[in-house]
Amino acid sequence: MRAIGHVRSPYQITASIPKGLGATHDAEGTLEILPEFEPGLQDIEGFSHLYVLWVFDRGKPGDAGLIAHPPSDDRPHGVFATRSPSRPNPLALSVVELLGRDGAGLRVRGVDMLDGSPILDIKPYLTSVPPEHVRRGWIAEAENRAQAEGEG
Ligand SMILES: C[S@@+](CC[C@H](N)C(=O)[O-])C[C@H]1O[C@@H](n2cnc3c(N)ncnc32)[C@H](O)[C@@H]1O
Repeated sequence: MRAIGHVRSPYQITASIPKGLGATHDAEGTLEILPEFEPGLQDIEGFSHLYVLWVFDRGKPGDAGLIAHPPSDDRPHGVFATRSPSRPNPLALSVVELLGRDGAGLRVRGVDMLDGSPILDIKPYLTSVPPEHVRRGWIAEAENRAQAEGEG
């Protein structure tokens, strides 16, 4: 695989990126697509949101093993039950809101990537799963515990 472009983001260090329960991703950035791939953006403007497949290029894939310790919980979880950047293959998936297109640049909101992260692919965001059918696993449990602790 090769990068089709790079993310321009306000984040230079991971500590600046919101994390943990209740974190929201409102930061704006640009998906800078290489000129040779610009024809592939034709008709993308009509979509409100995009999937962005990108690379955790500054991670250490092997270091954390298969058990992750997400900032949103004080309990460990299998890496494939998390969105941890330390995983066997350093592949990332973000959903961003498309604000506009300037040639080969896509202005987006909702970046959680470091500046310069390589982009492997972009696809329109579509889902056929009704919200009431989505289960949120340990994240819902962690939220419930945090709420109970807050009330206690
Ligand atoms: C929890 S991951 C989620 C990323 C994506 N939304 C996903 O689910 O695959 C986001 C974190 O990855 C880290 N990160 C962002 N860009 C990175 C990069 N280029 N290399 C390594 N880690 C990165 C930051 O610590 C950031 O808070």
